[in-house]
Amino acid sequence: MSATIHVENARKHYQSGDTTVRALDGVTIEARPGELIGIMGASGSGKSTMLLIAGLLEPPTEGEVFFRGERVSCPGADLDRLRAFRRRNIGFVFQKANLIPFLSAIENVALALKIDDVPKRAAHDYAEALLVELGLGHRVDNRPARLSGGEQQRVAIARALANDPPLLLADEPTAALDSVRSRHVMELFRTIADVRGASILVVTHDPRSVDLFDRVYEFSDGKIVATSRRTAPEALAAH
Ligand SMILES: Nc1ncnc2c1ncn2[C@@H]1O[C@H](COP(=O)(O)OP(=O)(O)OP(=O)(O)O)[C@@H](O)[C@H]1O
Ligand SMILES: [Mg+2]
Repeated sequence: MSATIHVENARKHYQSGDTTVRALDGVTIEARPGELIGIMGASGSGKSTMLLIAGLLEPPTEGEVFFRGERVSCPGADLDRLRAFRRRNIGFVFQKANLIPFLSAIENVALALKIDDVPKRAAHDYAEALLVELGLGHRVDNRPARLSGGEQQRVAIARALANDPPLLLADEPTAALDSVRSRHVMELFRTIADVRGASILVVTHDPRSVDLFDRVYEFSDGKIVATSRRTAPEALAAH
C-alpha cells in the first residue's frame, strides 16, 4: 500500500531582503495509514514549514508531494486545486483550538460538516458521536469558555476529524496544555491512528510523547538530521 503522504526532497526558500532563507532544504518524509509520526527540532528548524508543504497550504520551491501515490503538489502547483484537495483529505489541529466562542462544542464540530453540505440532523448526530468517541460526551452542549484547555483541544480534534480525513496534521497541539492533558491528547492521536487508520503528523517539543510515535523525524536547519523508530513489540518479544 502506498503512503498516505510522501514528501520527496522538498525545499522551501523565502526571500528576505538580499538573503534567502532555506526554511526547508531537501527533506523527504512519509506517513503510512495508521502511523503516528513525530516532527521535532529546535525553533526555526523548519517544522511548521514542513506541515505547510505536506498540508498543501503552499507548494514547495523544489520537490514533490504525493498523496496515496498521486502527485498533488510541486513548484507552481495551482492553489485552487491544492485547496480543493486539502479540504477533502486533510484535517488540521493547531496550538490553539480556535473554536467559535458563541457555538457549543457540538455546533463547532457540526459546522465543519455542514460546510461540506451534510444535512443538519446528520451533521449534529455525527458531531455528537465524534465527541463521545473523544471522551467529551458530557460536554457537547458547553461553549468553549466552559471547557478546559484540554477539552477545547479535543473539540478541535473532533472538528479536524469531521470529514474523516486520511491525513491529520497537528502543529504543537499540546503546547498550551499541562503535562497530564498533553499526554491525554497525544494518546488520543495514537488511538485515532490505530482505530481509524489515519496517518498523523505531529509537531511537538515534548520528548515525553516519543514512546507513542511510530517514527520521529528530527529537524535541524531545514534538514532531517535523524530518524528514529519505535521498537516494535514483536521485536522485543523475540529477544
Ligand atoms: N513566510 C516566511 N518568510 C520568511 N522566512 C520564513 C517564513 N516562514 C518561515 N520562515 C523562516 O524559515 C525558518 C523555519 O521556520 P519554521 O516556522 O518552519 O520553524 P519551526 O521549526 O516551526 O520553529 P518553531 O519551533 O519556532 O515554531 C525560520 O528561519 C523562519 O524564520
Ligand atoms: Mg513552528
